[in-house]
Amino acid sequence: MNLRQTGWIPRRQCLAALSRVILKGESMTVALADETRDLPAREAAWSRALAYATVRWYIRLEAMVDGMLDRPLKPRDAVIRVLLCQGLAEVFHFGTPDHAAVRETAELARTVQRPGAVGLVNALLRRALREREQLAAVMDRNAVTRYACPSWLIRGIRDAFPDQQEAVLQATTEPAPMTLRVNLARISREQMGSRLAEQGVVAEPHPLVPSALTLAGAADVQDLPGFAEGLVSVQDAAAQWAALLLAPKPGDRGLDACAAPGGKTGHLLECADGELDLIALDIDGGRLGRVRDNLRRLDYRARMWVGDLSDPEVWWDGEPFDAILLDAPCSATGVIRRHPDIKLLRRQRDIPDLAARQSALLTAAWDLLRPGGRLLYATCSLLRAENETVVAAWLAGRPEAHVCPSDFPGGIDRDVGRAIALGARGMDGFYYALLERQA
Ligand SMILES: C[S@@+](CC[C@H](N)C(=O)[O-])C[C@H]1O[C@@H](n2cnc3c(N)ncnc32)[C@H](O)[C@@H]1O
Repeated sequence: MNLRQTGWIPRRQCLAALSRVILKGESMTVALADETRDLPAREAAWSRALAYATVRWYIRLEAMVDGMLDRPLKPRDAVIRVLLCQGLAEVFHFGTPDHAAVRETAELARTVQRPGAVGLVNALLRRALREREQLAAVMDRNAVTRYACPSWLIRGIRDAFPDQQEAVLQATTEPAPMTLRVNLARISREQMGSRLAEQGVVAEPHPLVPSALTLAGAADVQDLPGFAEGLVSVQDAAAQWAALLLAPKPGDRGLDACAAPGGKTGHLLECADGELDLIALDIDGGRLGRVRDNLRRLDYRARMWVGDLSDPEVWWDGEPFDAILLDAPCSATGVIRRHPDIKLLRRQRDIPDLAARQSALLTAAWDLLRPGGRLLYATCSLLRAENETVVAAWLAGRPEAHVCPSDFPGGIDRDVGRAIALGARGMDGFYYALLERQA
């Protein structure tokens, strides 16, 4: 990205989006989509990239700012703190030349219309540049500011991944790679790799996941050869294990119980080259529209039902399922690289409620499974509380539930099921438990 040609408008839109996330608790995806909608594509991409870098490191940057201020900012000046963090992110995590970052951030300070903002931004950013080594050393002293991660999440990561904790925490500060899923029913991974290479797109076969290709850099999906024809989709390698583990057979009656936006729905159909009687259920009708778009592109069909999994009387026709994927709503901490606002917006107190919901959804889904049928419980959470703790407690008193071995490479065994550590071989963090209903 050419930083020199990027002026204050993308910076202003970045600040507007960051203010909505940090000061109002809005989702970054929504705020960025709104605030960059009217920018030319290149500037919108620049603005989004800066917002991601700022949010990814916000906890550290905010601590730096607060440590340098002579007196705390007044609540009504909170936007100045956001602006300072954005400026520091440019300097420390975005590659903007120092003088340009200071000049442009100070220029932007004029627009926030708070007395003293321009002087404060100038002075504080210049000081940060002078003292960058000392500041970094202070921030590296404790894990919260070293990894820009809230303490409750650090504890959860350490508990779940004691042997990989530093790597997982480090991964929370990094951008995610772009990974493709190849529709192996229609093209081999090698052939797809060659098609991409012909267009100058460098893609490496993922070492653990047979359908995955990792791109060397981000690309516009619409420009990727094979995307419009449905030969490839964008999906993290860890997420690709869902359909591979459940492995529905042609002719099976399947339920994708929390389907939207449909990444895994498409893969389930690819595994049986469309020969599934698949129902894609989601409580959110709007999001289900994205499943429809995905399947249209892939040229596969499923029945799409809007409904609450925990209230099957409203939507279920009474025919049991052979295979159920329950990709449960969760803290999404395993995909924190793609949604770094989780570091700021998710709260520890959300986790027990999520776990109770996950357990209720598991019960509801299980009751729809025929004897001999298989259910895959999946989350993109790093936390035991949403993963093996939910499944182990749920299994008690259910002798008809058999835990299937699922020793996929790259996973870490749990008491029940298997977890993938965030960042392992570039993957997102995931958890899978495959259960079979005994006759
Ligand atoms: C983790 S996302 C699913 C991602 C999807 N499987 C994919 O691969 O693209 C969880 C989904 O569960 C849906 N959901 C939440 N509660 C639900 C419920 N009670 N019944 C059905 N769907 C629900 C949400 O609307 C959300 O789309």
